[in-house]
Amino acid sequence: MPYANILVTKQDGYAIVQFNRPDVLNALNIKLMEELVDALEILDKDDEVRAIILTGNEKAFAAGADIKEMADATAIDMLIRDQFARWDRIRKIKKPLIAAVSGFTLGGGCELAMTCDIIIASETAKFGQPEINIGVMPGAGGTQRLTRAVGKYKAMEMVLTGKMISAEEAVRWGLVNKVVPIEYFLEEAKALAKEIASKPPVAVRLAKEAVLKAFDTTIEGGLEFERRNFYLLFASDDQKEGMKAFTEKRKAEWKGK
Ligand code: HXC
Repeated sequence: MPYANILVTKQDGYAIVQFNRPDVLNALNIKLMEELVDALEILDKDDEVRAIILTGNEKAFAAGADIKEMADATAIDMLIRDQFARWDRIRKIKKPLIAAVSGFTLGGGCELAMTCDIIIASETAKFGQPEINIGVMPGAGGTQRLTRAVGKYKAMEMVLTGKMISAEEAVRWGLVNKVVPIEYFLEEAKALAKEIASKPPVAVRLAKEAVLKAFDTTIEGGLEFERRNFYLLFASDDQKEGMKAFTEKRKAEWKGK
């Protein structure tokens, strides 16, 4: 599919998906989300790609869902559009997703960053769930993922006041992994993607799956799930190779099997 709202590039074992609606601070309209999900599902099946970076530009990761597109919608229009089904598909992407954010990371933009597995921020990044200011509330996971990331009290404050927080606050609150100067945020994400791309892919896949399991199960169920994935890796060539290479004091050569 030729894309009008995103740019997709591949290099060094990872891919970069860049939102490309700079005039509206990368507001996430339906078309952009359709293209994003399509690209992610293709990259998820691409053996050359072992991690995926989602990014915007220096001014905005994304300033939220496109307000103009939904302003006149009725509840039934929203139901029929079923836009959140696309977000569920992003949640099912098996490869690690890294958000490289700078500038406005608001509403659906903040929710999209939180749907990723790792968030690298420039020191100019501003995070917020401002939906309350336009008469609604977060709808793409904000109340759930933000609460899990920063806890009840800070999530309540952000969701109920709509105020933005700085990158420095976000890193202190546990919402992002790392804050770097603006000129390095994408470079930092690329270095991380390259590092993850150098790891055994099946182990990366099962490890991501197990960490995400912690969000929707009991500790008992999660530990059982982890154990099964751990055992499963002993069926991989990469486990044999990784442990053999360790004892032979050499670098492992991964097959991805
Ligand atoms: C549509 C948007 C937009 C958005 C910005 N623009 N955010 N268009 N939807 N979410 C457009 C503006 O209309 C304007 O277009 C251009 O981008 C530049 O924005 P300005 O407002 O002129 O820039 P600035 O004064 O710097 O203010 C930046 C801002 C402000 C603070 C980020 O734009 C803002 O408050 N945006 C809305 C943020 C928001 O409420 N997000 C949550 C959306 S609801 P023109 O044509 O005038 O130049 C949501 C629900 C998620 O995300 C549900 C799941 C999908």
